[in-house]
Amino acid sequence: MRRGWYGGLGAAALLACGGGSGGGSATMAAYNPGRAPAELQRGAALYGSYCASCHGALGKGQGLGPPLLDTLFLPARISDAQMTSAILAGSPQRHWNYGAMPPVTRVDPAEVPQVVAYVRWLQSGYHAGGTTGSP
Ligand code: HEC
Repeated sequence: MRRGWYGGLGAAALLACGGGSGGGSATMAAYNPGRAPAELQRGAALYGSYCASCHGALGKGQGLGPPLLDTLFLPARISDAQMTSAILAGSPQRHWNYGAMPPVTRVDPAEVPQVVAYVRWLQSGYHAGGTTGSP
């Protein structure tokens, strides 16, 4: 009687889903980067007018759209060009259950880089460890 014994390799598939915390953590809720620097004030105002209704104040999310502070939206995942395209042309539903993002038609395309810069500032403050300034 011969018995072959080949141990299984036990390939554990670790599924890293890369963020997607589903609406913001307690840390995110407490995040307050303080007042944006002067050169980002225009971007901050535009963000407030055109993005905050879905992505929440300071990018924290609020029920109509995902938090832009999530790691899914950092520059390594979503380039400035992709963010610009999402704003001007809309974006399909990808990672969340909010549906697709409609194009933001009221924003002046020439001002979109300022919105993107403001979002990057929010993200870098948050991912640098929370509060970077005090009001
Ligand atoms: C009507 C609600 C709404 C508004 C207004 C809105 N978004 Fe979105 N946004 C969404 C939804 C929903 C998604 C899709 C999320 C998903 O499933 O991945 C999204 C996705 C994105 C993405 C990811 C795009 C990609 O390629 O995956 C970025 C970046 C973004 N929004 C930035 C913005 C900015 C900046 C503004 C303001 C100029 C804005 N959004 C306005 C709802 C909105």
